[in-house]
Amino acid sequence: MKLAIDQQRLVSEIETLAEFSDAEPPAVTRIVFGPADLKARAWIKARCKDAGLAIREDAIGNTFARWVGSDPLAPAVGTGSHTDAIPNAGKYDGVVGVLGGLESIRALQRAGFRPRHAIELLIFTSEEPTRFGIGCLGSRLLSGTLSADAARRLKDNGGNSLDEVRQKAGFTAELEQVKLPDAYYKAFVELHIEQGPILERERKPLGVVEKIAAPASLRVIVEGQGGHAGAVLMPDRHDALCAASELILAIEHAARTSGAIDTVATVGICEVFPGAVNSIPARVRLSVDIRDTDQQRRDDIMRVLEQTYHSISANRQVRIHSELLNADAPAQCGPAIVAALGQACATHGFDFLTMTSRAYHDSLFISRVAPAAMLFIPCRLGYSHRPDEYASPEDIARGALVLAETLATLAS
Ligand code: GLV
Ligand code: MN
Ligand code: MN
Repeated sequence: MKLAIDQQRLVSEIETLAEFSDAEPPAVTRIVFGPADLKARAWIKARCKDAGLAIREDAIGNTFARWVGSDPLAPAVGTGSHTDAIPNAGKYDGVVGVLGGLESIRALQRAGFRPRHAIELLIFTSEEPTRFGIGCLGSRLLSGTLSADAARRLKDNGGNSLDEVRQKAGFTAELEQVKLPDAYYKAFVELHIEQGPILERERKPLGVVEKIAAPASLRVIVEGQGGHAGAVLMPDRHDALCAASELILAIEHAARTSGAIDTVATVGICEVFPGAVNSIPARVRLSVDIRDTDQQRRDDIMRVLEQTYHSISANRQVRIHSELLNADAPAQCGPAIVAALGQACATHGFDFLTMTSRAYHDSLFISRVAPAAMLFIPCRLGYSHRPDEYASPEDIARGALVLAETLATLAS
């Protein structure tokens, strides 16, 4: 089989998709079920139809584009990723796996390949946690990690429920129907940019992912006492932002001193109420994101945080409430898919590194219901979740080629 990726077309599709955005270029922002997300979905579906794929969408808006196989009873081989983008993001996170996956399918079609198992491109809804607070909404529901009832309780910052918003976007079926039937996928492979610096540093063109680290996130509210910035003297204050600042530094310290380089913790949102120059902060809302390759160590950090809440609230006489949004186990990738990816690299003479994904991905949740693995390509300086995220056309095409070869092996 003579496989060839149309690099120019793939890169030009990535550029076109970046135009569906709520941010000024080069930044990309696509919030789930917002106008840019809906336009991007329509554009991608049209590209999938052009490729002769059969499209279906589920109640949360996960989009399945299927190349039917010769054996209708055989479970499908899946590939795909997401196209939503956090505020002020780049063009490649998720998109490389969606448009690269589509181009892999087209390359297999051009090469005359006939799959026995269907090959299905899956575009997941809301991999990013921006709107509803937890990431991987689509894959959590597909895998049963998130129940339909728990999904219905989710609200965005404007108080709109996920249920209302998805229905307004045209996805009206019952959320109970999203969970995949048993053995739906024989295998799932996600192509993605690394989002870290290792491949570039090690001068390896590809990474085969064997493990995905364990993410957790919390919403923390610190309640102090507001008041006049001139009239309330320092001994009488219970400033919520000063308390939150201590907490932020304690979170950083806990991650830095966990004993392992694999522990990371981030406070990415800090909202101050009432947010006036001459008003003492009365309330602060923080987002906390903690991850580790080792679940036990990640959970130990969460226990340290509980103790820190107590000491800060006692010392400063503020109240601290914390709500756990998610605490997920890590995933071990499917050995047969890892082997198929390694073999596909070898077939095309590409060196690769076996590695751990420190970012989370929809594959983390798909791995709960099917063997899953990931293929990473380098991104410049490891930059991701920022507008200057960049992957070279050659690296993107190489990833799509190895993905196509792997899909052929798995779908034969
Ligand atoms: C995914 O976007 C992550 O935050 O790892
Ligand atoms: Mn991301
Ligand atoms: Mn991603």
